[in-house]
Amino acid sequence: MGSSLIFPVPGNPGAGDRLSRWIGRWRNGGVENYSAGEGLDSSLRWGSGSRFTVNRERIWLDALPSAFHGLRVVQISDIHHGLFLPKEWLSDAVRQANRLNPDIIALTGDFVTYSRRNIEPAAELLGRLRARYGVYAVLGNHDFRVDAEAVTLALRRQQIDVLRNRHVTLRFGGESMHLAGVDDYGYGADLRRAMRGVPRDAATVLLAHNPRVIHLASRHGVSLILSGHTHGGQVNLPLLGTVYGRSPERLRYKIGWDRMGTTQIYVSRGIGTIVLPWRLRCPAEITHLELLQGASAVSRPVAAD
Ligand SMILES: [Fe+2]
Repeated sequence: MGSSLIFPVPGNPGAGDRLSRWIGRWRNGGVENYSAGEGLDSSLRWGSGSRFTVNRERIWLDALPSAFHGLRVVQISDIHHGLFLPKEWLSDAVRQANRLNPDIIALTGDFVTYSRRNIEPAAELLGRLRARYGVYAVLGNHDFRVDAEAVTLALRRQQIDVLRNRHVTLRFGGESMHLAGVDDYGYGADLRRAMRGVPRDAATVLLAHNPRVIHLASRHGVSLILSGHTHGGQVNLPLLGTVYGRSPERLRYKIGWDRMGTTQIYVSRGIGTIVLPWRLRCPAEITHLELLQGASAVSRPVAAD
């Protein structure tokens, strides 16, 4: 299940040295970087023009062809458009993402929460996203509960490529990498189908709403997974920890960068909320990933702004 795209990728200056990457990650508690002042919900930064925290992260991939070195991927997850995330906020997210000048935009599911009425307005706003080589999406559990077909059609009408258990091949300078996507973990995720025809040693970025797919993805040789779903816990109480995503299975792959074997994962905190319209010590996030060719032992967070 795949199609092919051909595009040029701009060059990017070199990767940092291995030691400083290890130190940077160690300093950040082994998870990811948080800038000062992030303890409060960044969505409360009225009038700043930057409603959401932009988390910048460099990801080294062994298999990434040098032609793709420096590829900028902007990820927006768990929008949950509706009562708790109104149109104005989604417009802000779109503007912020576009300002990052992305090569690729990855939307990792849960566009809506409960209501079909939010599907079209969300898709219309997301249709304003601009990325040099395309905007790609996968569906989340809430999208399936509301109406997966309606969400898919609405996004596709906006030229957003919804990857439902399939992949596209990106080609440049005689080299290629693969961008795959699966349906939500509990609603028909079929990684085998999505990866059909992808060589095992190829560079592959997988969009998957639920990070639980990592067990399967690591067996398929996926290089990097971009996920959401956990909201990073959404409410992170002092001493008690996060309210959401506390099950043992979710504890590890709940937030930020991690890996299983040679498969790396980045779990976004997302921009929306569920149940409660607020976050605590877990700010809403737009992710700016820079993919670099090199040893994948670590990831180095760059900064959050
Ligand atoms: Fe979800």
